[in-house]
Amino acid sequence: MRLSVIGCGYLGAVHAAAMASIGHEVVGIDVNEEKVNSLSQGRAPFFEPQLQEILQSGLDSGRLSFSTDMSRVHGAAVHFVGVGTPQQAGGHAADLRYVDAAVNELLPFLSPGDVVAGKSTVPVGTAARLAELLAPTGATLVWNPEFLREGWAVQDTIDPDRFVTGVPSGPEGEAAANVLRDVYHSAVAKGTPFIVTDYATAELVKVAANAFLATKISFINAMAEIAEATGADVTQLADAIGHDPRIGRRFLGAGIGFGGGCLPKDIRAFAARAEELGRRESVNFLHEVDAINLRRRERAVQLVIDGLGGSVYGKRVAVLGAAFKPHSDDVRDSPALDVAIRLHGLGADVVVTDPEALDNASALHPQLTYVAERDDALRGADAVVVVTEWDQYRREMSPSHVNGLASGRVIVDGRNCLDPAAWRSAGWTYLGMGRP
Ligand code: UGA
Repeated sequence: MRLSVIGCGYLGAVHAAAMASIGHEVVGIDVNEEKVNSLSQGRAPFFEPQLQEILQSGLDSGRLSFSTDMSRVHGAAVHFVGVGTPQQAGGHAADLRYVDAAVNELLPFLSPGDVVAGKSTVPVGTAARLAELLAPTGATLVWNPEFLREGWAVQDTIDPDRFVTGVPSGPEGEAAANVLRDVYHSAVAKGTPFIVTDYATAELVKVAANAFLATKISFINAMAEIAEATGADVTQLADAIGHDPRIGRRFLGAGIGFGGGCLPKDIRAFAARAEELGRRESVNFLHEVDAINLRRRERAVQLVIDGLGGSVYGKRVAVLGAAFKPHSDDVRDSPALDVAIRLHGLGADVVVTDPEALDNASALHPQLTYVAERDDALRGADAVVVVTEWDQYRREMSPSHVNGLASGRVIVDGRNCLDPAAWRSAGWTYLGMGRP
């Protein structure tokens, strides 16, 4: 099928390349010329496993192209809209200007029978409003939220847990849902759930899923706070409750909490939208989820202060990790970088390392010192802080190796990813999050 993808950021670039990889002919459109040039030359503008390969093979096959020229979408059967919906400056609501601009610019190139599939995460009610804009063109709007995780984006796009498609009622909606079934034919054929619903439900499924994940993380981080007050171990607690299949162990990793371009802004936008709808109290707990999450960053900083005997001023601190999670170079709202910045603000001599995220981190926070090699960060450190659980720090860093590099013997495990016994027996003061 011929498809267009409007917006070639994280979501759009991956979607375009993934759709080409399953056999569609795809044009990706973005207003950013640099991004379009980079993608057209087969260079992924961010680190994402497998993306480079499918991008190159898509370009080589002739089925994938990128352009800044919106008229190139003409003739596509489905137009995916995957532009960003960041947090508004000066507020918690989502900024919809890119979605509105994309749809408005698309209008002149639509033909009757075309399907416009919104993929961006939007406040409930957006699709109904956009559908009115599209009505005169004869195209049908569907809302088809994306659930991909960074680091697994290609796999999640080609082979997701489920598809959700919000459609207008009646035959027009049914026909549009069938068009999307065709787009995702390979996954649908092997039985991936394909849920057809109304606009509001589809929009809400997306924010509800992210709100649930954020709540699960903050729940275990709240338990970490209680563990800290009682001497209990939150990782054992998580293992024990996680054996109950109704609870499950995933997303019960206590630590410095969630960040990234989605969870933090999505729970805020959801709360802001609920308030507009007069339902503030229904999601009031999301304010608490947010607050718990932010407190854990402070807690990690406090552990470094405690470990260094009451002050970090003038002390060299190796910060291992800058990305908001491993397998990503994304530093948007990264708890790891936030911890580094706070330590820097307290007068510590902070040295940050990360296998993938240094370029993005140094562009955002040029005041920090960055080194590419983990061991260069460790050399001479009074304290070591693990804030992103990359394998290089979690699995491939033995206490005896670090003994030969660091000056001090204090390690703060902001992701509870190290073995406390191993570090303690090598002479280290090990400080975890919600662990005795
Ligand atoms: C999240 C969702 O998981 C995706 O399903 C969704 O499609 C995406 O947002 C989106 O809305 O686009 P992502 O932002 O890639 O995906 O990251 P997650 O894997 O959800 O991790 C989010 C944060 O939670 C990370 O900072 C991670 O370190 C943290 N986390 C995760 C924990 O602190 N503990 C855990 O147990 C799990």
